[in-house]
Amino acid sequence: MYDALRPLLFKMSPEGSHDLALDLIGAAGRLGLTGLGRRPGRLPVQVMGLEFPNPVGLAAGLDKNGAAIDGFAGLGFGFVEIGTVTPRPQPGNPKPRLFRLEQADAIINRMGFNNAGVDALIDRVKAARFQGVLGINIGKNASTPVERAVDDYLIGLDRVYAHASYITVNVSSPNTPGLRSLQFGDALKSLLEALRQRQEDLAVQHGRRVPIAIKIAPDMTDEEIVLTAQAIRDAGMDAIIATNTTLGREGVENLPYAAEAGGLSGAPVREKSTHVVRVLAGELGGRLPIIAAGGILSGEDAAEKIAAGASLVQLYSGFIYRGPALIREAVDAIAAARR
Ligand SMILES: Cc1cc2nc3c(=O)[nH]c(=O)nc-3n(C[C@H](O)[C@H](O)[C@H](O)COP(=O)(O)O)c2cc1C
Repeated sequence: MYDALRPLLFKMSPEGSHDLALDLIGAAGRLGLTGLGRRPGRLPVQVMGLEFPNPVGLAAGLDKNGAAIDGFAGLGFGFVEIGTVTPRPQPGNPKPRLFRLEQADAIINRMGFNNAGVDALIDRVKAARFQGVLGINIGKNASTPVERAVDDYLIGLDRVYAHASYITVNVSSPNTPGLRSLQFGDALKSLLEALRQRQEDLAVQHGRRVPIAIKIAPDMTDEEIVLTAQAIRDAGMDAIIATNTTLGREGVENLPYAAEAGGLSGAPVREKSTHVVRVLAGELGGRLPIIAAGGILSGEDAAEKIAAGASLVQLYSGFIYRGPALIREAVDAIAAARR
């Protein structure tokens, strides 16, 4: 089915085809049609105290507003992460802001957290029938100064807490000026401390502890990865998601659009992301689960992330290039590697 649709989608502008695909998946989900294809087998895993039917999830950013939760779940993802959502709606960067580097199975984006705001997202979550693992990824508005970023994350945490299976704190998008500075040093420590305190208060209030994952960038030295991992672990967070897109352009230097500003994802980020997972796993020694994203284009790539120390994987660019068949392929490859 996707093989027939892809040439059509790839003829449109990247953002036009993104919007159309999201509409189609959303509509198919509402009609219960996405569950009709061959679905992945069951490969249950327990991570962050949650039960996942399989370890292959949808990465953040594809469904920023939670418009197609049932559709994505129906395609067989073991979990669905929506967002990044900000407290207030915002338009994101001017278009064009999304570029396909087809020869490299890659994407460059500088979307800039275009989203309808947290209240609209919660309405969408309430309207969904999905009962599985739902991650909600939170960020800060572009108009909030980075010194006040904590305020936005706490608003996000408060608002989504009751509706999420887990919450991702995104401090690694390259498209919101200053955001990545929150991954380091005192800025990171004070953010984490505020999040943990609020998480405890909310757990009492709601009678349920919702795990928090911190999503990091691939553009760090090994020393920085280790320091960030220690801070996240010491603060009592529940998981690390590695990684977001890269600012690097290795492997695409001479391709069309390579000079566009933004984060690069897909095949060219694979090794860099897997390296981050390996360094994290070495430092954390299994005490904190790792969710891997970055350049998974095949089942083998998914199994590589698990072998590097991840407990779960997420797809974005690979899903664009390969379609829903990649979900089953990834689950099968992870299952085969376990046997
Ligand atoms: C167009 C686009 C938009 C994205 N938006 C977000 C986002 O809003 N929040 C986030 O945490 N990650 C976002 N990401 C990053 C992905 O979730 C993922 O971490 C990254 O693309 C690496 O995985 P991939 O190589 O499979 O795409 C986005 C990626 C792309 C390509």
